[in-house]
Amino acid sequence: MTPSLFKQVTVAALATLCTAGAALAAPVWITIGDQAHAVLQKVAPNARTVASARVAVDVPVKRGSSTLKQAHEDVFAVEVDEDMIPSLSLAVHLQLRKCGGFVQHDSMAEALATLHRLENPDQTQLLLPSYAIDNVAEVNALLPQLQASNLLSTITDLSAFQNRRYNSTHGVAASDWLRIKWLTLLPSRTQTGSRPRWRLKQITHTWAQKSVEFELIGSGNSGETLVLGAHLDSIAGSNIEARAPGADDDASGVAGLTEIIRVLVASDFQPKRNIRFIAYAAEEVGLLGSANIANAAAARPDRVVGVMQLDMTAFKGSAQDLWIYTDYTNAAQNQFVANLAATYLPTLTVAYDACGYGCSDHASWHNRGYVASFPFEAANSSYNFAIHTANDTTATFGNQANHALKFTQLALAWLVELASDSTPAVAAAPMPVAASR
Ligand code: BES
Ligand code: ZN
Repeated sequence: MTPSLFKQVTVAALATLCTAGAALAAPVWITIGDQAHAVLQKVAPNARTVASARVAVDVPVKRGSSTLKQAHEDVFAVEVDEDMIPSLSLAVHLQLRKCGGFVQHDSMAEALATLHRLENPDQTQLLLPSYAIDNVAEVNALLPQLQASNLLSTITDLSAFQNRRYNSTHGVAASDWLRIKWLTLLPSRTQTGSRPRWRLKQITHTWAQKSVEFELIGSGNSGETLVLGAHLDSIAGSNIEARAPGADDDASGVAGLTEIIRVLVASDFQPKRNIRFIAYAAEEVGLLGSANIANAAAARPDRVVGVMQLDMTAFKGSAQDLWIYTDYTNAAQNQFVANLAATYLPTLTVAYDACGYGCSDHASWHNRGYVASFPFEAANSSYNFAIHTANDTTATFGNQANHALKFTQLALAWLVELASDSTPAVAAAPMPVAASR
């Protein structure tokens, strides 16, 4: 947020910007980054910090640069009175000028387990596929079929729900709507004989809103899977009825998934690897839906060989087009994503930045030892500041989806390149553990 714009926002409005607004009784358990932890200690001196971990992250040497340096973030597990969460969110927003920086957990045990995984990333299941770009004809045939007008129409439809909160009737309705929307894209011919080539389901959680998952079943890669995700929920403060159109955050990402499904199905694309499209519930309250889903994948374990997250793609806040965020993501896949942009979208410019904390659902996968990337609409200093308010509407990005289309094209190229390979992914060489530095 630019300082001048920041000053115009009233404290009362800020109080509602980032709060999860849970209605349950105290206490709650959070993991929280170092900067936000310093704020927490002032706001809630009674909060009980139980443990900490040092997490290694790659960040650009300076904003935009593709040259990375290794930095670290200290993350703390804290028990805090639930009533303090809104003031914590407010203070983080005022003092750090960002949302988030903390994630809620079901128990202190779960918070501690998260810390442990952050400090000791599970390298045993880090699977790397070939990053050769070798499906140029196929990708180039599909790319022109993606339409910005379809993106805008899905964004408009999703924004029309009063909100898409994880615990509201509107959030539930939005999930049901998306299932039907995806269903209507599927002609019956994708269901051949006794072997269905796709699956569509809603995933039930411990809160009301369900995640929605559509899977194209691969024909030849022993269960290797790609995950393209976006979050379905939206939020604006703690009021369960508050208007939260979430057009950029993250109807834009869900619209991208929807348009890619439409094009792949219409062209009868037959992947070798499985492709899962997931609209996650409850991202805005601590990456809850994706954490559930990534935890379940790791427990089975699923051979997920690549994850991409589309969260905020519609607002062009910076001169460069595609911003690849380098923290809580995989450097090798990020390089592949940049190579895909150079090959398929050569007129677009690529730059690099970092959130400074696990800011979207890619972090849930990364924390479970999966390869993830997060291409984002802008530098971290100039994203769409209307998010988490009633003003996150299509008007903030000129009622068009040209910027969102670029990310949809990038994601389609990523999916088709990786889904067309039948060479199995290989386990990555173990990496040094950050805590031992
Ligand atoms: N889309 C945002 C994350 C974001 C915001 C990334 C601005 C980059 C710039 C996401 O939906 C979000 O708000 N995430 C939470 C994460 C938290 C609940 C763990 C946040 O940042 O507060
Ligand atoms: Zn988001």
